[in-house]
Amino acid sequence: MTYPLLLIIHLFAAVLFVGTVAFEVLFLEPVQKRLPAEVRKALGRQLGPRVRAVLPWAVLALYLAGLDLAWQYRAALAHPASSSFAALLALKIVLAVSVLAHVVTALTLSHRNRLGNALRERLHVSVLCHMAAILVLAKGMFYFSW
Ligand code: HEM
Repeated sequence: MTYPLLLIIHLFAAVLFVGTVAFEVLFLEPVQKRLPAEVRKALGRQLGPRVRAVLPWAVLALYLAGLDLAWQYRAALAHPASSSFAALLALKIVLAVSVLAHVVTALTLSHRNRLGNALRERLHVSVLCHMAAILVLAKGMFYFSW
């Protein structure tokens, strides 16, 4: 697959993933708290399956395309301290792996019925902060240098 196509897939998948998390943290969670319990449950029943049908594919595309993109920079990544670009790209990848760890933790806890509302909100906010940093690094690695 050509590099520009991979980059476009990575970008679209990132928009979908980051956009979903941002919508959840900034709009859905605060508004849900003000809804009656039965409306909240109905919303969850409708939204849950829709999100679970779409988002895993976006996440899969994001990480697979990311791995393919990173392969082009493997020489730089082998020595992350050798340039500002390599250091920032390596940090971006570490943060992306941490996002994945958050997702796996949330899914595991939810599967065991141990994901309370407070913890879920904290995980969402943490993922959103990671994503903000990832976006700054994704563009900054081409412009910040030392
Ligand atoms: C939460 C996960 C991730 C998000 C939100 C994300 C987001 C982004 C964004 C917005 C860009 C800029 C695209 C552009 O300039 O049009 C980018 C570039 C890039 N990403 Fe990711 N990414 C993620 C995960 C990964 C992973 C896991 C890898 C590799 C293992 C990766 C490797 C790269 C590379 C190498 C570039 C630079 C491509 C280039 O411009 O040449 N990304 N990423």
